[in-house]
Amino acid sequence: MSLVTLKEILAPANEKNYAVAAFDTMDFTLTEGIIEAAEQTGLPVILMLPGFAFDRQEADAFLDFNLSRIKKAKAPICYHLDHGASIEECYRAIHAGCSSVMFDGSKLPLEENIEKTRQVVKVAHACGVSVEAEIGHVAAPEGSVEGSVAKEDLFTRPEDAVTFVEATGIDALAIAFGTVHGVYKGKPNLDFERLARIKSMVDVPLVMHGGSGLPESDFRKAVAGGINKINFFTGMSLATIASMRKMIDETDGRCRYVNLFDTALNTVIDIAKEQMEIFGTQPM
Ligand code: 13P
Repeated sequence: MSLVTLKEILAPANEKNYAVAAFDTMDFTLTEGIIEAAEQTGLPVILMLPGFAFDRQEADAFLDFNLSRIKKAKAPICYHLDHGASIEECYRAIHAGCSSVMFDGSKLPLEENIEKTRQVVKVAHACGVSVEAEIGHVAAPEGSVEGSVAKEDLFTRPEDAVTFVEATGIDALAIAFGTVHGVYKGKPNLDFERLARIKSMVDVPLVMHGGSGLPESDFRKAVAGGINKINFFTGMSLATIASMRKMIDETDGRCRYVNLFDTALNTVIDIAKEQMEIFGTQPM
């Protein structure tokens, strides 16, 4: 099955009430681990490329690897630009072979977010590529995994969600209802009533960003409440670093470099499989 669009991967999730896991990749180990988790379970997964990946030193080789690895996979994989910062970045991702892009205009005024998202949708759909966009704003720490708080005044307003979906023609909608990117400051407190209202008012699949740090019960409640894609990265990153540190500590640093990366790979696979199970992901 291999490369599929976001629209294709999320349609059955919306219909059967489960979520597909979406993990960011920034290197070969992450890509391999995330896809291997999908291969071992036979479940769909969304491999997300952050926009800054285009400008890293080994970008071309990395982008080539991602696409060829996806094409070799038997499991359904969506290759998705995460948080496209501009229209140009979305076009760049389409050119690089992504089957889906997120245009993140969540910090813009509603009208401007609608206008720019529409432009992305027009080109992306002409190329057979799906589009996710965000209304409301999920708080993000500036370049750090540390310390975010959810701000209620930035939560998605249900009536804006309806306007936005109708005006843009997007394939999936990211909403803000209490999650944050990175590590939570204090205890997460998700607004499940808001999620229920939005779910009852829009038809497109709903996306939850900032999955890391939530208790298992919140994930299950969010999925039962209609979330169909869950973005998860910080938790995977911290667990992988911890597993590498454990190996270094246990061997007093006298371990083989390659074994350290095998440990990291196995942790990525384990975390990805664990989250897929919690999200109730089903085979396509
Ligand atoms: P976390 O790093 O908090 O899991 O969020 C990931 C995310 O939402 C990427 O878009």
